[in-house]
Amino acid sequence: MNRGMLHVCVIAILSIVVCSTGLGQESTVQLVVRADRPGAAISPTMWGIFFEDINFGADGGLYAELVKNRAFEFPNALMAWTPVKQGAAFGSVEILDQSPLTAATPRYVRIKTNDASYGLMNDGFAGIGVQRRAEYVFSAFGRDVEGRIPLRVELIGLSEQILARATLKGFETNWSRRSTTLRAAATEPRARLRVLLDGAGTVDLDMVSLFPKKTWKDRPNGLRADLVQWLADLKPGFLRFPGGCIVEGRYLSTRYQWKNTIGKPEERRLIINRWNDEFKHRPAPDYFQTFGLGFYEYFLLCEDIGAEPMPILNCGMACQFNSAELAPLDQLQPYIQDALDLIEFANGLATSAWGAKRAEMGHPKPFNVKYLGVGNEQWGPQYIERYVPFVKALKDKYPEVQLIGATGSDPQIFPNGPKEVEFLQKKLKELKADIIDEHFYRNPDWFLDSAGHYNNYERSGSKVFVGEYAAQSVGVASPDNRNNWKCALAEAAFMTGLERNADLVMMSCYAPLFGHENRWQWTPDLIWFDNLQSYGTANYYVQQLFSLNRGDVLLPVEITGQEPPTSKQPGLYVTSSRDEKSNEIILKVVNSAPQPATSQVKIEGVRRVARRGTQIILAAEKLTDENSLAEPKKVAPVTSPLRGVGTSFEYTFPAYSVTVLRLKTRG
Ligand code: AHR
Repeated sequence: MNRGMLHVCVIAILSIVVCSTGLGQESTVQLVVRADRPGAAISPTMWGIFFEDINFGADGGLYAELVKNRAFEFPNALMAWTPVKQGAAFGSVEILDQSPLTAATPRYVRIKTNDASYGLMNDGFAGIGVQRRAEYVFSAFGRDVEGRIPLRVELIGLSEQILARATLKGFETNWSRRSTTLRAAATEPRARLRVLLDGAGTVDLDMVSLFPKKTWKDRPNGLRADLVQWLADLKPGFLRFPGGCIVEGRYLSTRYQWKNTIGKPEERRLIINRWNDEFKHRPAPDYFQTFGLGFYEYFLLCEDIGAEPMPILNCGMACQFNSAELAPLDQLQPYIQDALDLIEFANGLATSAWGAKRAEMGHPKPFNVKYLGVGNEQWGPQYIERYVPFVKALKDKYPEVQLIGATGSDPQIFPNGPKEVEFLQKKLKELKADIIDEHFYRNPDWFLDSAGHYNNYERSGSKVFVGEYAAQSVGVASPDNRNNWKCALAEAAFMTGLERNADLVMMSCYAPLFGHENRWQWTPDLIWFDNLQSYGTANYYVQQLFSLNRGDVLLPVEITGQEPPTSKQPGLYVTSSRDEKSNEIILKVVNSAPQPATSQVKIEGVRRVARRGTQIILAAEKLTDENSLAEPKKVAPVTSPLRGVGTSFEYTFPAYSVTVLRLKTRG
């Protein structure tokens, strides 16, 4: 019998004893933490994050570029750009492709004018967010065709006021990059960028770009600092990237290909974002992937926030919800080679072919990738046919890299779901997959009822990765879903079960991660933002509580005085662990009931528990409560000292709450 099952049985037996001795609903719940019976180690990767460019999460979000369609490579080459003129200026704007800047950005714009003040205006991503006194770096590749005319660059407010102005000079007859800095005079979330020729002449422009000077770690081509901070504050065990469905693409031709996302930004060829036209109710015709945030930047991000990188690669299958195109089995080699090359890019010596490209980009030291996903949400025997040669080639060369097998989408949302998932689970276990990825987009009641989901799961050797999950308040991917406390609380209940099954479950992550307030396609999301601000949802704080209070070793908890809680019968969901470094016992308790629960907590197997500990409480008045830009901390954890505790003490868990108790121990 595995430890998870043992735990459940202990609870069940004790509950029966308690009920038969007349204690019952009204009695105080007893929580006995068995510090003398440590269980499985909890993997440092237990709580991680999953990033996908959905909801304008990368372009228009985490990637700090403020200009949309900077390289004129959208199918509608002038999308987001409008020709503008001032006074009597008369000019023209043409899209050309002769002698382009690079093969990856074949098009550029030619601006011609007979007088000063003719050019283009860019709308940004639903506007350009600028902060008063902050600096912005404007840059462009340009080629002087005639006149050697400087550019006048301006940030414009909603009532046409000029928020910042700078001049850019010095383009030559061949392509060269020039940059200048603008300082905003006022804060404006929906500014626009105006680029004007300042005299009669002709100029070619490409990669017209505007970045805040302050990016994460002040890197050029960098990331939005406030958004990365949310990720860093989760102290995630890993980062799964770059998707999700965008890995697969609607067609194989629009799948994610990591090699197109490295090197200089102007060498990265743009493709359509799969979420551009996925949901008719949330169309995003201006959603493309520039790959300014590419694999090198993902690896750097992982390093910055201390997360294990977990790239997911296409295995010769386009999204099965869309075209379901397959690479023929005898033409799989390029896909396999991409995977092999990626490991060399990330882990190889700087003298290896792909390691040299990493070093050239500025990182001679390897990134040390330990995990790699083979496909995202695939199903059917066609997946196994591709998974097998993939895994063989990778394991032959890199046996140390743990490979993740996919088991399809949530069984409730795709055709023949449960059968498909069971088929792949069985096959992957037979094939001794290192790790099996499972996804759950369900209603909150399912999460409340499924804290024991993995208790009786077959322990075959393969570990489990809960690679995407989120409680859906209305329905899967419904535009009416809310990031409310009911969903967050239910996820917390489920997460106690993931942790209690730490011998099997080694990783998990909420999905999706980011949502732009005005440009999202999928809700709920963990972190919301607009052009200037951002906030963590109640769900975010649940993730953070579990991640920051993980502990290293599981401690069993014997619970008496309540039946195992469900959606119909609320109660306490409990998990406990020990933090080896701080010598603390961590007790995480989710009270799903509408009233406080007084309980007697006992710690067995330690000589002493210090009288002072720490309590962190995440609670809300109503299940419908949620955070927002206006009230970003409506549901947020409160940390305070915990006094008068010991090896036995009474504690009242607030109604609808997630509580973490940290108890210092001796012996
Ligand atoms: O998280 C949103 C999408 O849900 C992911 O792209 C996909 O893997 C799942 O179907």
